[in-house]
Amino acid sequence: MAVGQPAPIPSIFDPLSRPAEEIQTLALFVLGISAAIFVIVGGLLVIAVVRFRRRAADDGIEPPQVYGSNPIELAWTVIPLLIVFVLFLVTTRTLIAIETAEPPAGALEVRVIGHQWWWEFRYPEQGVVTANELHVPVGRPTFLTLESADVVHSFWVPQLNGKTDVFPNRVNRMWIEPREPGLYLGQCAEYCGTQHARMLLRVIASPPAEFEAWAAAQAGDAVLDAGAQAGRDVFQSTACINCHRIGGTVADGVFGPDLTHLMSRATIAAGAAPNTPAALRAWITNPDAIKPGALMPAMKLSDAEIDQVVAYLTTLK
Ligand code: CUA
Repeated sequence: MAVGQPAPIPSIFDPLSRPAEEIQTLALFVLGISAAIFVIVGGLLVIAVVRFRRRAADDGIEPPQVYGSNPIELAWTVIPLLIVFVLFLVTTRTLIAIETAEPPAGALEVRVIGHQWWWEFRYPEQGVVTANELHVPVGRPTFLTLESADVVHSFWVPQLNGKTDVFPNRVNRMWIEPREPGLYLGQCAEYCGTQHARMLLRVIASPPAEFEAWAAAQAGDAVLDAGAQAGRDVFQSTACINCHRIGGTVADGVFGPDLTHLMSRATIAAGAAPNTPAALRAWITNPDAIKPGALMPAMKLSDAEIDQVVAYLTTLK
């Protein structure tokens, strides 16, 4: 599925990656056992209520009281113990398979850094830095190290793996292995401030060759379009450069998303708006209008300057 197409609804019932599949198998197994217990206990209860209900012909005498029955006591002690033991074993097996997996040779390594309110993705091997849209190849696992620049976030792409919390001063690990090329939607899953709900993330899984081509294009510096010089001058004369990096220019901030290849992304502001010139313009004019509380300030540029900056940004392919 192409990046620009309408987003599919992510479903935990439709896993398309090894860890997510393991989790679903375990969940269905636990649900199955729980359902069986529910049906047996509920069924016995219904039988008891219906069959032994009070009737007009009752003599009103208390029925015989039975105390102690070793076979019954044993049965309802041992059977639940066995059930719990089986659940324990199966859960442990899944936990080990998912959480302690060592990256196999050829696994892709990506550093994920949660920020209020966007995601930073760093590919150390490829020399790529991008934001909010994680590109990975299909056919080989991607191992993520999860860090936070500020508060606790949670990285969650339901079809690829369970949630993993993202803490300051701690590195967490998780991995994904999408089976099919396509767009997988995710979301920060831990309340992290005003714009937690608009801390979306997109995972784009592509065939290996396509992924390599993407990474090669992302690794390069921004190409200066002569027609965009005016906008570049405005950009470089403002505090924009303290927070954003544009490869090959003086802009080298790290507080905000890297903009070197901004136009290769389908959305801006962590999925809060499509990446169109109109949305870029609205965003630069007043980020608060799109994401109230966003940490990017309105730069108070004139209309003409904003037009120039937008024109410049749209050359960052
Ligand atoms: Cu980040 Cu919620």
